[in-house]
Amino acid sequence: MNETLATILDRSSTRSFTDQPLDYDQLAALKNAALAAPTAMNRQENRFIFVTNKDVLEKINQKVLALMHEESRQDFINRMKERGAKSVFYDAPLVVFIYSKASKYAYLNAGIAVQNLALAAHSLGLGSCIIGIGTSALQTDIPGNLAAEMGLEPDDICHISIAIGHIAQDKEPHSFDYSHCRDIE
Ligand SMILES: Cc1cc2nc3c(=O)[nH]c(=O)nc-3n(C[C@H](O)[C@H](O)[C@H](O)COP(=O)(O)O)c2cc1C
Repeated sequence: MNETLATILDRSSTRSFTDQPLDYDQLAALKNAALAAPTAMNRQENRFIFVTNKDVLEKINQKVLALMHEESRQDFINRMKERGAKSVFYDAPLVVFIYSKASKYAYLNAGIAVQNLALAAHSLGLGSCIIGIGTSALQTDIPGNLAAEMGLEPDDICHISIAIGHIAQDKEPHSFDYSHCRDIE
């Protein structure tokens, strides 16, 4: 199997990271991978915030947790407890937030970029977990949001985030259901 396919097939979400920070080369490689993602009409509307500041990540985490409690998201709160996780970002040393203005393909552009980041991380021997819940604190229409503090403008939408770091505990890739593919020959 070639290296690209092996990277795609071997990747799985990591929810337990070591304290080791990422080095300059790893951060640079991840930035290249994010910026290499294709975008509709090559408009390159994605914007990326690479957050390694623990205090900032904890502040966002606390806001997300408060929102989850306010919205009585018991499912989410229970899952965090089951996983023994105190942070929605699983204490990763890096979280990348992807945002842009609203546009027809904004969400799709962000989705492609986040998978580029997940695969790039895996290829570097790092773990990652895409975190949808992490963006709630950065939505400009939510009271007490942290969007402006993070440099977002009022019409920016934070689409997705991804936690990246050295793997403390790994899990197997998910199983495939081939019935989800149909052939028309
Ligand atoms: C759009 C999206 C949002 C996700 N949000 C979260 C999240 O908020 N928290 C989390 O722990 N995992 C999150 N995940 C990770 C999924 O739970 C994970 O990809 C899925 O269980 C399959 O496992 P695998 O990544 O190991 O193949 C998200 C994944 C995607 C694609």
